[in-house]
Amino acid sequence: MAKPRRGDSLALTIDDLAFGGEGVGRVDGYVVFVRGGVPGDRLRVKLYEARSRFGRAAIEAVEAPSPDRVEAPCPYFGRCGGCRLQHVAYPAQLAFKTKQVRDCLERLGGLGAFELRPILAAPEPYGYRNKMEFTVAEEAGAPVLGLHQADRYDVVLDIERCLLQSDAMNRLLDGLRREVRARALSVYDQGRGQGLLRFVSLREGRRTGETMVNIVASTPDVERLGPVAERLRECLPGTASVVLNVTAKKASVAVGTEEHLLVGRDHIRESLGGLTFQVSANSFFQTNTVQAERLFGVVEQACVLAGGETVLDLYSGTGAISLLLARRCRWVYGIEVAAAAVADAVRNARANGIENCTFLEGEVRHVLPTLVRDGVRAEVVVADPPRAGFHPKALQALAALAPARLVYVSCNPATLARDLGDLVRQGYRLEWVQPVDMFPQTPHIEAVARLSRA
Ligand SMILES: C[S@@+](CC[C@H](N)C(=O)[O-])C[C@H]1O[C@@H](n2cnc3c(N)ncnc32)[C@H](O)[C@@H]1O
Repeated sequence: MAKPRRGDSLALTIDDLAFGGEGVGRVDGYVVFVRGGVPGDRLRVKLYEARSRFGRAAIEAVEAPSPDRVEAPCPYFGRCGGCRLQHVAYPAQLAFKTKQVRDCLERLGGLGAFELRPILAAPEPYGYRNKMEFTVAEEAGAPVLGLHQADRYDVVLDIERCLLQSDAMNRLLDGLRREVRARALSVYDQGRGQGLLRFVSLREGRRTGETMVNIVASTPDVERLGPVAERLRECLPGTASVVLNVTAKKASVAVGTEEHLLVGRDHIRESLGGLTFQVSANSFFQTNTVQAERLFGVVEQACVLAGGETVLDLYSGTGAISLLLARRCRWVYGIEVAAAAVADAVRNARANGIENCTFLEGEVRHVLPTLVRDGVRAEVVVADPPRAGFHPKALQALAALAPARLVYVSCNPATLARDLGDLVRQGYRLEWVQPVDMFPQTPHIEAVARLSRA
């Protein structure tokens, strides 16, 4: 059959999900990506993009639904860029994530003999996020607080209730929207560089019940925003902190260059793994507290610490892994590029009475070789890099250190596969991989891999 053309209507069966969560079907070998397709669906679709090797199509009709197709509970599903898998039954989401990890490791990493452990499902498939960031925008002359429409960065949906956050956070979002409207507060216009409100970020200590509202605005208008903060505290008495972050930069980034405290403290507390963490507006903290605790439990188990070891925590962020492991070993060195995260890690160590951690600021590829040159040796290395994975120089430095055990925490199976492939070629054995579902309803995949020197 000739290659399908743009505008063609096709009948196909979805047989897989792609990395980003789109359904994948085939018509005489021609691959078609279909947003909203579920493996097992028999669909009629219309091709809106036809490249030589693959095309993209929109669903015209679901002729026979997959047994894994479910009704998405969120009214914004399909338009909102936040969740992409609400229409897939949770067990099928878990199977998809497990398969992605296996496919990446086998095909991209050329890795064979390892144990792929059953994915750790989230006990809360909804309402699990302890942090959400919303954009303040103007649509049809009225202020809206919400999330960007999928693939439309110029359109913001007015989200009345987000199912990924708790009821308390939804109350704060709603309370703030009402205040913005009642007080006719202006909305920042990126084109003109005018207007006050830009973003609002909500946080909640899931174990402490403390909530935080971070209003990101273009000017330090404490006079107008102070009373808003007071009203939010009335609307939700658990509100421990309302801060104002100010940024004059045009770029669409919800991080301020100066912070003003409007109500309460400048941070909230969260407990995880028996420790208490102070989390401020711009601190990194794992967004799913319950699953982060399980993820770190897997890391701790993978390290097999007897008490006398030196451990390196590469890409240590605000130090959660370092601080949890410090209780089980002699010393931990954390390496992290973001100065603010290092400061949080130091503060959190102090707050928990932990004295056997050193946090070093800088890129792993620069700091790790220096540490090795200074004579630091480590039996165990934990690494939790960003999506891009290891820099080749960082991987080289790690090989020179040659720890007995290596625990790799990854949020991107493709770079995990690439880096594990390299480590195996350098003499490591991949023992097991444990996927952990940190982000139900989204295609994001987290996994822990344990390696030992062969
Ligand atoms: C996935 S997070 C790790 C979070 C950490 N495990 C925690 O729970 O707080 C990755 C971290 O790597 C840091 N990072 C990114 N590139 C880096 C580099 N080249 N060298 C050191 N740290 C880096 C980021 O700032 C971020 O904090």
